[in-house]
Amino acid sequence: MTIADTIQTLFLELHQHPELSNHEFETTKRIREYLQKAGIRILELGAKTGVIAEVGSGSPVVALRADIDALPIEEQAACSYRSQNSQVMHACGHDVHTSILMGAAYLLKAQEQEQNLPGTVRFLFQPAEENFSGALELIEVGALDGVDVVLGLHNNPNLTVNQMTSCAGPFSANVDRIEITITGVGAHAAKPETGVDPIVIGAQIVTAIQTIVSRTLAGLEPAVVSITKFLSGNTWNVIPETVEMEGTVRTLTPEVRAKVKAQLTNIVENIASAMGGKGELRWFDGPPSVINVPEWVDLAKTVAQQVGYEVVDIEPQLGGEDFAHYLHHVPGAFLNIGSQSEYALHHPKFQINRDMIMPAANYWYELAQQVLTVLKNNQS
Ligand code: NI
Repeated sequence: MTIADTIQTLFLELHQHPELSNHEFETTKRIREYLQKAGIRILELGAKTGVIAEVGSGSPVVALRADIDALPIEEQAACSYRSQNSQVMHACGHDVHTSILMGAAYLLKAQEQEQNLPGTVRFLFQPAEENFSGALELIEVGALDGVDVVLGLHNNPNLTVNQMTSCAGPFSANVDRIEITITGVGAHAAKPETGVDPIVIGAQIVTAIQTIVSRTLAGLEPAVVSITKFLSGNTWNVIPETVEMEGTVRTLTPEVRAKVKAQLTNIVENIASAMGGKGELRWFDGPPSVINVPEWVDLAKTVAQQVGYEVVDIEPQLGGEDFAHYLHHVPGAFLNIGSQSEYALHHPKFQINRDMIMPAANYWYELAQQVLTVLKNNQS
């Protein structure tokens, strides 16, 4: 079987047997089998799921990362290889990322045998991207030890299969979650003067929060603050005691992130206290934004053009990507390759164009070697 056929088969198998974050046990087994079949060495670092493998030897070391987990979605795509696991679907294309990385591993293994590799290529088959825990877990077990540059890719349904994109600086958002509790004093609905109405306070706070982006940030600093849950009360004639809210904050830089957090705290605490109640904000840090290093973005774009991709420009996205954690330790770049799906990522009808798989594997293979060459030349 050719490498192209092998990774198409792997893609179909993965797509039909998706597994949720931290439960990628069969997926892990399958990845190991494919690696072993090609004689690629697996590093036993003790991750619960996911696989780390290598070809080549010595320094420099470049790491290529693919995420392997799926989402809790019932698939509705019109394809013959639909998910066989109920309520689980590869709706973000991590199955194709895994297949692309496997293809690159096979191609690079051949280079190793020819003794053509100027260093080591490490493959990070990372679990649990969707709940943003997998990158941290792999870093914890030492997956980045000795790594000089790390590269990652995600498919982009809005691009055609021959398009790639990336940009220097922020490429995805800081994805933080917030919870707000407003505590008032319950009362009879006919006697509001005897209590403190948390719903009225909450409503003021929701409205005031919308001034953070429009009034405290500069016009060209992108940010989103969304309240997505507002729960209170349980009947028509009682003023309740509390309001519980949830929401998310998306920003691109650490400075804007800190500014939004400070202003959010101000608004919640001070509006509540001005109205006689108590406001509490709880902030949960999600993955930081992916900050791409210009040198590696430039090389990724150059190599993309060399292997036949059209390089296009897009704006940074306010979605999250836990690849950001790697970039806090090691320089590198994250990029997108077109998957040409009619439906968006995380949609139950999401379906990639399978023509993207082999060219992307070939691109990854080419890029890894050129990164090693650049690093090698820097060493000497
Ligand atoms: Ni994804």
